[in-house]
Amino acid sequence: MTNQNAGIIGMGHAFPSGILTNADLEKIVDTTDDWITTRTGIRQRHKAAENEYTSQFAVKAANQALERAGLKAEAIEIIVCATTTPDQIMPSTGALIQAQIGATNAAGMDIFAACSGFLYGLTMVESMIRTGQIKYALVIGAEVLTKYVDYTDRSTCVIFSDGAGAAVLAPVAEDKGILATKIRSDGRYEEQLYAPGGGTKLGTSHATINDGMHFFKMKGNELFKVAVRSMAEVSREVLEKAGYTVDDLKFVIPHQANQRITDAVAQKLGVSDEKVYSNIAEHGNTSSASIPIAIDECLQSGKIKEGDLVLLTAFGGGATWGSTLIRF
Ligand code: COA
Repeated sequence: MTNQNAGIIGMGHAFPSGILTNADLEKIVDTTDDWITTRTGIRQRHKAAENEYTSQFAVKAANQALERAGLKAEAIEIIVCATTTPDQIMPSTGALIQAQIGATNAAGMDIFAACSGFLYGLTMVESMIRTGQIKYALVIGAEVLTKYVDYTDRSTCVIFSDGAGAAVLAPVAEDKGILATKIRSDGRYEEQLYAPGGGTKLGTSHATINDGMHFFKMKGNELFKVAVRSMAEVSREVLEKAGYTVDDLKFVIPHQANQRITDAVAQKLGVSDEKVYSNIAEHGNTSSASIPIAIDECLQSGKIKEGDLVLLTAFGGGATWGSTLIRF
């Protein structure tokens, strides 16, 4: 069996053009810019128009990632789309992306792991490349969360946003790419962040729609504590597995859930603020898209350079969580 490291060779990202600022929210919900900024760090979020949907942003991000990797879509063998907001229940968004980018030799699929979905995708694809089963893969995080947000629920509607980020994965040199990765879940935390309606348990009906059961519901306070503890724990496990410490890290890119969660994770890990990337003020929480968007921004701005050791960590509804250690 081969033992080939897998790494990111091209990234891309995309947002809808619509923006919802805190001032815009002040006009439709009982909140203030000051409350939102202090509690979440968010100043604005991206919002898709009525006729825009998840795969459109995923396709833009994927095409950009392929171009930067210098690869044609036909070279891709697996497309993993991490999303909690698919275009439709069937077929998978991964399959729809496959058709739109012309990846005629790929298998497209979705991963349903909320905000940790991109790390779930990286972990799965890493093992397929490591064992020589495939050579090139696309891992995408793409969401249109604002279509699942109840704009009368002031504690959730201020957080969620829309966008997509994509990564092309390929075999890389032995000391590069994904050095360690770990994903976890605990379904006992289901009700900390969930959308109860629309599945087989509470199928779509006039009653479920009237009761807003299709919207995201969140127990923000409880989630906050589990998120901080879980991300810090799994980050330490991954560093230890690869034989590194936080001092070896150039950067930490956490899922952009909330600035206070990011700050608390950094403090728990003992990493200084300058080493922790944050773009939540401009982009809000884009769930599975937030990490690939952040990586792409760091690569484009030169914050991350070749050879840098970077820790990715995420937490999301499920609960799901994970960390991935990458040398670029
Ligand atoms: N504007 C003004 N007041 C608001 C508000 C808003 N947008 N949202 C909630 N409040 C009010 C509450 O109604 C409550 O009022 P009360 O004391 O009169 O009952 C008060 O603020 C405190 O509510 P609480 O929920 O305890 O606030 P909090 O400090 O926990 O902050 C969150 C709420 C959602 C910002 C915070 O819990 C959080 O960030 N959790 C993590 C969420 C997250 O990251 N989710 C994504 C995971 S991937």
